[in-house]
Amino acid sequence: MKNKEILEFDHLVIGSGLAGLATALKLAAFGTVAVVTKREPDDCNTKYAQGGIACVIDRKDSFEDHFRDTMTAGDHLCKEDVVRKIVAEAPAAVNELIELGAHFTTLEEMGMEGDSGEFHLGREGGHNKRRVLHSGDITGEEIHKTLLNACKTNPKITILKNHIAVDLITSRRLGWMGDNCALGAYVLDIGDNTIKTFHSLSTTVATGGAGKVYLYTSNSDVSCGAGVAMCYRSHASIANMEFFQFHPTILHHHKLKNFLISEAVRGEGGILKRRNRHGEYVEFMDSYHEMKSLAPRDIVARAIDNELKRSGQACVYIDIRGKSEKFLKTRFPNIFEKLREIGINMSKDLIPVVPAAHYCCGGVMTDINGFTGINGLYVVGEAACTGLHGANRLASNSLLEALVVARFAAADIASRVKTIKSHRPSGKIPLWTSENATDSDELVIISHNWDEIRRFMWDYVGISRTTKRLERAKARIKNIRKEIEKYYWDFLITPDLLELRNISSVAELIIDSAMKRKESRGLHYNSDFPQRDTALDYKDTIIKKPCTT
Ligand code: SIN
Repeated sequence: MKNKEILEFDHLVIGSGLAGLATALKLAAFGTVAVVTKREPDDCNTKYAQGGIACVIDRKDSFEDHFRDTMTAGDHLCKEDVVRKIVAEAPAAVNELIELGAHFTTLEEMGMEGDSGEFHLGREGGHNKRRVLHSGDITGEEIHKTLLNACKTNPKITILKNHIAVDLITSRRLGWMGDNCALGAYVLDIGDNTIKTFHSLSTTVATGGAGKVYLYTSNSDVSCGAGVAMCYRSHASIANMEFFQFHPTILHHHKLKNFLISEAVRGEGGILKRRNRHGEYVEFMDSYHEMKSLAPRDIVARAIDNELKRSGQACVYIDIRGKSEKFLKTRFPNIFEKLREIGINMSKDLIPVVPAAHYCCGGVMTDINGFTGINGLYVVGEAACTGLHGANRLASNSLLEALVVARFAAADIASRVKTIKSHRPSGKIPLWTSENATDSDELVIISHNWDEIRRFMWDYVGISRTTKRLERAKARIKNIRKEIEKYYWDFLITPDLLELRNISSVAELIIDSAMKRKESRGLHYNSDFPQRDTALDYKDTIIKKPCTT
């Protein structure tokens, strides 16, 4: 494997979803920026976000209401100051997006009365008000397209596709003295199979989620938790990984896999139903929560899981037959069309759904500016844990967080340039070495380990956990991790192997965090400790790689 090239940029951004592109765009005001992304720039979770961006713009709404709904969903684990600041920054961040050309659905487009240009606001689980700006039901795609256009036309930004990060370069990794400091990253150029050394003043990790750690997920194929795994290896603190959000309603249909049925469908009146012994479809959420089908996600996903386990049935259903075809086609054009293609008319038929892994609320621990505490290293978006989501993310708060924290991160980086430079040890960064690597003739081991991890994570570390199941998962992951480390050093690095290494590391972090938290709270439910322990309110689970390993 060739490893000749050193590339110098002022700022390196790893990942090309909303968080990465929004950070890159802001950083471009202060210097040159490289955005590396492992496939095409639009291979990211942002593209699949249907719901929208939570933002207080309605006169009947208030920051205090948005704050309260976020805190309630987060189940006594959100950081109050972070929630307040992000909620308050939302209108300015959204306005900037609109100025860049993003379009959000208006009341007029919905055929509703209102002031000219007034936005239609959606509602989702856990929100007591309508406050979700949306672009039909392809909000993420619209925002991503807007940001990508802006980045592509900015001469300071270079986007490198098919570039997959291998590891961060830190002064500690290189054995240099002084405070740990980020210096860039080693990146595999998939096109010509070389490992490039990126050298930069700041490094922002924006690699998105880790849904591929579970067998069933709404996430894109690229969501392998690379950022969390790389930052863990670089001795950053990793927080609250036990809180993995399962979206309650992913389509259950053999012709269309992993397709999200937005919570906004329930926000517009969709009701969750199950089939009873007499073959009738009946509501069940009323026996779980006063907000019924619009209860916070952790509660809805657990309720569905419980109903499925009790009845032995394969799915539950969303019933939105109360709404006209005209309304549904306007409000959910993408969902309507995708369902129609497989023979479901949502104005006439029930929609079969099951929960699936959706969003990692934990991540690399950062302050509100995305700063990790390691000089020059920032994390933005789903890979980060700022404290906004607590034990359970409120719907449509994640696009908001990524957008707002990207602004804060770029401003923080700009204000710290002198400090970053003065703390940075001098020395020549070595090129990547892999002299002993040979081609593996047993690649089947990689796919076998992938499948095994995803299955036992689903079975043992999913919606409902027990101590025994977690112990089983821990024993399995330990063996697999040993095998992977051997492969990683002995054989040539491939994208599959890198992803497997990252996913296995994230799986272990989730298991370890879940074992540490001896209570049930938000998205973490352990039936051996079914209650919330108030002594653990506002206490994060933090894991950090010891310096000696
Ligand atoms: C959805 O549309 O249901 C997903 C929105 C989100 O996860 O925030």
